[in-house]
Amino acid sequence: MNSKIEALGTSTGKILYSSDCQNIFDLSIAETMELFKSSGVILFRGFGVTPKQMKDFSERFSDRHIIDFTKVSIDSDKFVNFVDGGTDSLIPHSENSCFPFRPDVIWFCCTVPAEQEGETLFWDGVRVWEELSQESKELFLSKQLKFSYNKIPVERLKKILGSNANTIDDMKRILDSLDGVSYQFNDDKTVSVEYTCSAVVKNKYSHQNAFANHFWVYQKKTEEAIFDDGSRASDEVADEIETIFDKLTEKIPWQAGDLVMMDNSRFLHGRGAFNDNRRQVFTTLSNLKF
Ligand SMILES: [Fe+2]
Repeated sequence: MNSKIEALGTSTGKILYSSDCQNIFDLSIAETMELFKSSGVILFRGFGVTPKQMKDFSERFSDRHIIDFTKVSIDSDKFVNFVDGGTDSLIPHSENSCFPFRPDVIWFCCTVPAEQEGETLFWDGVRVWEELSQESKELFLSKQLKFSYNKIPVERLKKILGSNANTIDDMKRILDSLDGVSYQFNDDKTVSVEYTCSAVVKNKYSHQNAFANHFWVYQKKTEEAIFDDGSRASDEVADEIETIFDKLTEKIPWQAGDLVMMDNSRFLHGRGAFNDNRRQVFTTLSNLKF
């Protein structure tokens, strides 16, 4: 690859610069994919990428896009989404990792950066896992995370499950095919769903353990049980994880036209609080065909 490549902070991620106003669609798919496999995060800078181009570019690497029903979409397919429109901080999480529709990659693009701050933050789940004490590793290997969704209206679940979910039988067939999912259709036209998964993910390319999950959101923001045996992590474990996140925080310092491709099977992301509501960052979610 002829483009200039630099380290992204102290992470394994890379910044790939456009040379001579190069079009992002002129980049070699094979070489880009090799860089992604080895780095896990690529910040494409200087290509002037729009949200539509983000989607089009992502299609070159993806066999399917995943609807994000938690965000506001800006396209008719509902595949390009405006990130949470607030200005408060978002704590570390891997995208959709509390649902059985976790994408391989989260793509971000920025059209308007915040005047100050507003960086997307990220954490390498492999490094987080390496830093955890043996006791905490054993805790997360021995217990599964459990996410419960009670009384979802059938019509809403239909939309979430996609165009093949026309009947209750279709919905049951799709739910039955998803790992870690149990469900119950209720008499009041609602469905209760439980999703159980490990907090420890085998990274798609390096096959290393990664602490890449939704644990921290539930531990920090709720009083709910997070493990499948009805327990929560102790304050000591929470303190340990917070210290590790504080130590390993990396930043994407947005410029207009930046595109980011992030391995969602390895990395967590979030953001710090900021003060500029003109900031515009968009995402699309996909599974890779490589
Ligand atoms: Fe997110």
